[in-house]
Amino acid sequence: MTNRRLLNVLSGKKEQIPPIWLMRQAGRYLPEYRATRAEAGSFLDLCYNPELATEVTMQPIRRFGFDAAILFSDILVIPDALGRSVRFVQGEGPKLDPISPSEVADLDPSLVLKRLQPVFEAVERVRDTLPDETTFLGFCGAPWTVATYMIAGQGTPDQAPARLFARREPEAFKHLMDVLVDASILYLVKQLRSGADAVQIFDSWAGVLDDALFLSASQDPIARIVKGVRAEVPDAKIIGFPKGAAQRLHGFIEATKVNAIGLDWTVPLDWARDELQGKVALQGNLDPTLLITGGKDLDEAIDRIMEAWSDGPFIFNLGHGITPQGNIDLVHQLINRVRSYAR
Ligand code: CP3
Repeated sequence: MTNRRLLNVLSGKKEQIPPIWLMRQAGRYLPEYRATRAEAGSFLDLCYNPELATEVTMQPIRRFGFDAAILFSDILVIPDALGRSVRFVQGEGPKLDPISPSEVADLDPSLVLKRLQPVFEAVERVRDTLPDETTFLGFCGAPWTVATYMIAGQGTPDQAPARLFARREPEAFKHLMDVLVDASILYLVKQLRSGADAVQIFDSWAGVLDDALFLSASQDPIARIVKGVRAEVPDAKIIGFPKGAAQRLHGFIEATKVNAIGLDWTVPLDWARDELQGKVALQGNLDPTLLITGGKDLDEAIDRIMEAWSDGPFIFNLGHGITPQGNIDLVHQLINRVRSYAR
């Protein structure tokens, strides 16, 4: 056992009190984030400024004492480093020029190490700044989720443009997956070597895929990333988050060999305990809207999750990122309740 409690859970051990962190814990619900964001200029300027990226990574640790810090960056720095010029438009989310099948052939995954140097510098600084007992998580987007933004050029409700691209242009799509797998391996290995303790792979859009595309566009590329990272960093600890994967989680865990699985709030608690927790650590799965509404509903939802999952390896988290409307007092209430829970 180490003094980094979250890392212990990723090694398959059970902590008496589950470690807790929140997806998107550094973000617009924090006034100190909004202030640093304004100072940085654009969102990507913030991601590429090692000093300010370190500052916003530390903000939720200072305020709440979470068990883990997550690197402040974005999944779309990979397409940006691949030359697809990402812009973040205030109130509209990310914008890219939609990639054409012929442009896919020109993508060069080896660019990411050079272009993302400021991110690795931030990783080194964060590890030097964090309390010793705080686990430090790096991350990347899964190839499918990153590809949805590269293909549509923006977020869409059901990723129809990317699903269509996968069917109409199977060869270009396969090449795009291959490039993103290679780039993600380089990126995650360098994060681990720069000071990250473990990494999370976000497949936020895994839930829009049918059986066949789930295997070829979500599960298989993630399995190749895990294998590729562990070829360089043996025993690397990896959390998979295939949001919306539902009944496919079982096969996903077997195929990818992740150490922990992030579960969204729609996953039934007892099913996850009985079917998944014997194989991997569970991470999740409070509905983020409860951090807007609070009250008795919040307490009861926390208790149900604790009751179901705290007998095995478990990391308390939300089922997806905290939103800008998330309430700071309710985050304190959540942490206190988890840490004082007694059966
Ligand atoms: O979790 C953390 O605190 C670390 C930082 C982090 C961000 N994005 C910062 C961010 C992480 C891990 C991400 C992951 C990410 N980014 C995902 C996967 C997880 C998920 O939420 O599904 C995705 C799909 C993206 C792409 C992305 N970035 C979108 C769609 C948007 C716009 C929507 C929004 O929330 O504004 C972003 C912008 C973004 N990434 C912000 C932050 C704090 C807000 C931008 C701002 O401050 O103006």
